Amino acid sequence: MSNKKLNFKTEKELEEIILQEKARGTPDLEIGQKYGVTFRYIERLITRSQGVNISAFKVSKKVKKLHPKDFKEEQTTVWSFKQRGNWATHSGEYRGNWSPYIPRNVILKYSKPDELVLDYFCGAGTTAVESKLLGRRCIAFDINDKAIELAKKNVNFTVELQQLPFIDEKSHLKVYEPELSVGDARDLSFLQDNSIDLICAHPPYANIIHYTDSKGGDLSFFDIDEFLKEMAKVAKESFRVLKPGRQCAILIGDTRRKKHVIPLGFKLINVYLDAGFKLRELVIKRQHNCKTTGFWYANSIKYNFLLLAQEYLPIFEKPKLPVPLSVRERLVDYDLVTPTSEKLPVTRKLDELETTTVWILPEKDFEERLNKNVIDRYSNEKGFSTITFVSHSKNETNSTERNRQKGKELLFIKSPFLSNNPSRSNIEHYLKETKEIVNRELPNINKGGFLAIQTQDVRIDGYIEPLAKRMVDLLTSGKLWLNEVVIIIQEGKNLSSESTGEYLKITHQYLLVYEVVG
Ligand SMILES: C[S@@+](CC[C@H](N)C(=O)[O-])C[C@H]1O[C@@H](n2cnc3c(N)ncnc32)[C@H](O)[C@@H]1O
Repeated sequence: MSNKKLNFKTEKELEEIILQEKARGTPDLEIGQKYGVTFRYIERLITRSQGVNISAFKVSKKVKKLHPKDFKEEQTTVWSFKQRGNWATHSGEYRGNWSPYIPRNVILKYSKPDELVLDYFCGAGTTAVESKLLGRRCIAFDINDKAIELAKKNVNFTVELQQLPFIDEKSHLKVYEPELSVGDARDLSFLQDNSIDLICAHPPYANIIHYTDSKGGDLSFFDIDEFLKEMAKVAKESFRVLKPGRQCAILIGDTRRKKHVIPLGFKLINVYLDAGFKLRELVIKRQHNCKTTGFWYANSIKYNFLLLAQEYLPIFEKPKLPVPLSVRERLVDYDLVTPTSEKLPVTRKLDELETTTVWILPEKDFEERLNKNVIDRYSNEKGFSTITFVSHSKNETNSTERNRQKGKELLFIKSPFLSNNPSRSNIEHYLKETKEIVNRELPNINKGGFLAIQTQDVRIDGYIEPLAKRMVDLLTSGKLWLNEVVIIIQEGKNLSSESTGEYLKITHQYLLVYEVVG
């Protein structure tokens, strides 16, 4: 407890003063500095006093506009909203609520007017509000009655039929009032099998933020392993209630423990895949509130870590009919994928290194910048080696130089062939080879050195092969600690307006950074 905090006669007195400050609209940062309390302290106090984790006490909400201005549906796998969105009754008041642009995009892409949307982590009702604005029916619930109270206020506005977008497309459009109630996402027994057209939900990220004052069943009180076990029940129920051929979109983020990353996003994807879902898309949602200058920049360099700047929006699909893999597999496979050692040209030092986990690099010197960021951060320019996977036609011979130099600081594995629609057998071969290379090279990397793997998702037969996730699943050696999951994007690529048909265009890659600890 800080000195300032001790100046108050009782804890109760301090709490009352802080709540008064909140009611006046004083920002948390200012309250923290004035009274010597942490952000967590303020959050806990508010959750306890209000029964719900809100960032501001809102007086009333006037609806100024019902829809976002100049809205365009997302076309690529990187979604980035500079403003969180404040149309209709949306506001950032409920802590951890998602930007309304996310459910809006998901609802428009994966459902039709009049269809039924389910959100089992309703919170303050963002999905319910969007469903109402887009002429969809919606069932939404939350474990916390106070959140549902808030959601009920938020859906309480008037929409006229002619205010629904795309009114000319269908004749029997209606405005539907969302059905909101208290409930537990693990138990959907009140819903029939194959009855839901779309699931669109945003769970707690294990116990990073608490949403209630420890209400029974609140998943934000479960640590990672327990949380994943509970989410397995949610995923199983989701699979049961969703209609075959339809989608289930879930937003989730990673977390850090000490200096390492816990890939909660990839772990949760596994939970839904285990329930029987296929992965239709893996969207990266950029976060914009990351500090990248001054103090943060200095610390990011000093302690060699990046600020987490992405969340994952896997869009799962319940397959229509189980199709045996052997029928769908491309039979002819002429491409061989082989690893070769490559010397990377190392020229100037970069003026500034990337400090968050999303690297947007200019197209013209994309590779050079990427290499420099990896090498400058994770080696001293001399103690590194690179292995690159390239494809060769069947007849071509190729020599694979095995680099066995001892005492390296960094091994960098790249795989540009992934951008040329590899086949399933290419991919399996690539994953197997990578694992073998890592096992073989690991003894040659110094303790405290790094392994960096550049990889990307690919689409096969209409579904995503999430290769970064698969790589993380594969590299489970106790000698490797996952330090970073970096998203790499070529500047300008995402702005491309070319139509991508029924699928999103994959515009991001990954850099997995492991530290060698043993
Ligand atoms: C990330 S928030 C959802 C925010 C919401 N998307 C919004 O925009 O307001 C997660 C929500 O899950 C709720 N929750 C936690 N455990 C639950 C459970 N077992 N069943 C249903 N809801 C639960 C929390 O109360 C919290 O409101």
